Amino acid sequence: MTAKTPQQSLTVLTDLVLPGETNYLDNLFGGELLARMDRACSIAARRHSRRIVVTASVNHVAFTKSVPVGSVVTVEAKVSRAFKSSMEIYVDVWIEDRQSGEKTKVNEGIYTFVAVDETGKPVPVAQINPETELEQKRYDGALRRKQLSLVLAGKLDPKDATELKALFLG
Ligand SMILES: CC(C)(COP(=O)(O)OP(=O)(O)OC[C@H]1O[C@@H](n2cnc3c(N)ncnc32)[C@H](O)[C@@H]1OP(=O)(O)O)[C@@H](O)C(=O)NCCC(=O)NCCS
Repeated sequence: MTAKTPQQSLTVLTDLVLPGETNYLDNLFGGELLARMDRACSIAARRHSRRIVVTASVNHVAFTKSVPVGSVVTVEAKVSRAFKSSMEIYVDVWIEDRQSGEKTKVNEGIYTFVAVDETGKPVPVAQINPETELEQKRYDGALRRKQLSLVLAGKLDPKDATELKALFLG
């Protein structure tokens, strides 16, 4: 299978924050943002694999800044690394200033999707060739994050998490 670049899976969703999607402080409800992120990641994983994809894990989400009602929110997702059947997808969330158009990053997340066949059985996916410095950095850390996610899910014995051991034990 020919390797692909992260750019080939780039998915950009832009939408408004409406009053029904906010919390008591009139900021975007976290669960609504997670749903938008999940949708963007799902499309990115599908673009990379051209298969049915399912969310296997939400590895990390950071709600750094609140998103006020009326904001224009852009969710940008790209596959950062592919393994055998699983893909790590990085998602960055931005809002833009109404007058200047200047973008501020408010959130980021890391998801794992798995490509499956019609019976739900995992199937192989193409590998990733990072192009930019940021893509390379995200690619390099992906195995470590995969191992951490598997350890937390009880699917990998911590003593077999080689990348984590290297990180903590030097
Ligand atoms: C995700 C799913 C397909 C994995 O199936 P499985 O029988 O555990 O298959 P495997 O153990 O072979 O795992 C498949 C891949 O997923 C990876 N994976 C599984 N769980 C993972 C986790 N928690 N974190 C990171 N990667 C994970 C495995 O490492 C493997 O990766 P690789 O093939 O790239 O090496 C299966 O658990 C599933 O269908 N889950 C439900 C998905 C779903 O419905 N999502 C929507 C939730 S509403």
